[in-house]
Amino acid sequence: MTEISMQYLGMKLSGPIVVSATPLSESIDNIRHMEDAGAAAIVLTSLFEEQLALESRSLDEDLSRGTESFAESLGYLPEMSDYRMTQEGYLEHVRRAREAVGIPIVASLNGATPGGWVRFAKEMEDAGAHAIELNTFALATDRKQSAADVEAQLVELVGSVAKAVTVPVAVKLSQSYTSLPHLCARLEEAGARAVVLFNRFYQPDFDIETLEVRPSLHFSTPSELLPRLHWAAILYGHLKGDIAITGGVHTAENVLKAVMAGGSVVEMASALHIHGIDHIGRVLADLRYWLDQREYATLAETRGCLSRRSVPDTSPYDRGNYIKTLSSYSLRQTKAAF
Ligand SMILES: Cc1cc2nc3c(=O)[nH]c(=O)nc-3n(C[C@H](O)[C@H](O)[C@H](O)COP(=O)(O)O)c2cc1C
Repeated sequence: MTEISMQYLGMKLSGPIVVSATPLSESIDNIRHMEDAGAAAIVLTSLFEEQLALESRSLDEDLSRGTESFAESLGYLPEMSDYRMTQEGYLEHVRRAREAVGIPIVASLNGATPGGWVRFAKEMEDAGAHAIELNTFALATDRKQSAADVEAQLVELVGSVAKAVTVPVAVKLSQSYTSLPHLCARLEEAGARAVVLFNRFYQPDFDIETLEVRPSLHFSTPSELLPRLHWAAILYGHLKGDIAITGGVHTAENVLKAVMAGGSVVEMASALHIHGIDHIGRVLADLRYWLDQREYATLAETRGCLSRRSVPDTSPYDRGNYIKTLSSYSLRQTKAAF
């Protein structure tokens, strides 16, 4: 049978499927269930920096950093009671999750400024987290804030956390950066051991009758995988660290594509909400079957085989692809019209 273990963040994982941050892992029973189903690691739901700031009521320092979007966002935050966990509750959850299962537990922090929550990353480590995933969500709403400012802030944030802890730090990125290879290289220099591609950007929807702007959260479909594959394929071989792919991974075929693009692991959330936690086992069975049929000895040997540096023709990854795709489409259209 094909060996499907993968290396991620310096750890040998039993397979490529990591449970992504989702409320599903707020229950210890679910965490046990995830391990039984074959999850190789679990990223816990994020603790938000704003939550820490609200708890400690020491906002002054953070606000004086000039991050107006941070200050604005506080006005829209849910009441504290809406948050599922408090700071101490979160740490206790890390401890209990650690005790409940043998697979790695990754704590997740959502931060915007390198304030007091760096200390909290240390507390997560002390509570037993095997690694920390920084769920970064930089949203520039201020015209004075340049792209370079946003990136510098992110690199500083990652650097300060990476210095504060000894466990590996992964950085979950949003898709909207201009030069991702450059940014990822800087993050790596700052101490990141992996990049997680990509955070999903939950755009609010408009209600045109009530003239209200509403948050909208929908589960992903596999079509969201394509930009992740593209970027992983470009980054593979240019980073020393690992690449994790999250967003649109629902099937064994999706997992294989993610690994062939260059991912070490995938992080799944939506598929588990839709099909249940046992879906992990079904995807792993399909994955093993596919690999066995083609006589692969290991899953790891397929890693990066479709990356930009491995394929003979790189044009599908580059500008040529854009031109080719558009021109082939207009040809088809013309044929259909006549
Ligand atoms: C209900 C829900 C809650 C989520 N909460 C978090 C979170 O706390 N932190 C985080 O980094 N990502 C969070 N995510 C994003 C997922 O971890 C995942 O990266 C994203 O949904 C893409 O993967 P998917 O296509 O498998 O859903 C959440 C997703 C869902 C559906």
